Amino acid sequence: MIVITGTPGTGKTSLAKALGKAFDMPVLHVNDLVKKKKKLQAGKEGSSILVKLDELKKELKGFDGIVEGHVLCEIALPAKVIVLRTKPEELKTRLDKRRYSKKKIQENVEAEALDYCLIKTKENYKKFIQLDTSGLSLDASLGRLLFMLEDMQGDSVDWSDYFMK
Ligand SMILES: Nc1ncnc2c1ncn2[C@@H]1O[C@H](COP(=O)(O)OP(=O)(O)OP(=O)(O)O)[C@@H](O)[C@H]1O
Ligand SMILES: [Mg+2]
Repeated sequence: MIVITGTPGTGKTSLAKALGKAFDMPVLHVNDLVKKKKKLQAGKEGSSILVKLDELKKELKGFDGIVEGHVLCEIALPAKVIVLRTKPEELKTRLDKRRYSKKKIQENVEAEALDYCLIKTKENYKKFIQLDTSGLSLDASLGRLLFMLEDMQGDSVDWSDYFMK
């Protein structure tokens, strides 16, 4: 199993689809799965559905393919993990194009700047790499990822200067 996780807007859905094509592997999108299956839902927070993490873990047991979602950093699965990263300023530009509230955009940009998903991934998984997509096209990101997956050697990321500005 390959898990793609990261802050909303880092490109998980786009990259998972591209990787699925490249490897001819099935792709699961956690957002779609949760919308479809009531048993995975734990209520709502604003317009987003809260996920029952234990049920999601059960649902994914034995899946042999690529699965993507930001909540995947919160659970432990037997998988190789890719944590997608995007420079906070660039992530803000991407999220500004969505119909998100200012608060939701700010929360996500700060989560990225504080390495939230990386920290959770370290708690839950043994093998992971980070892929920094800042300034890269989707094709360039896919190329880098294919190269990185060979030896699980990823990017190092440091967004600490975001809070200095
Ligand atoms: N290098 C890149 N890799 C992936 N996506 C990119 C890249 N550059 C720009 N994008 C763009 O970033 C936007 C967000 O991508 P996407 O919807 O795949 O993110 P996501 O991580 O799945 O977000 P969410 O968690 O909200 O579902 C898209 O418009 C995508 O085209
Ligand atoms: Mg997505």
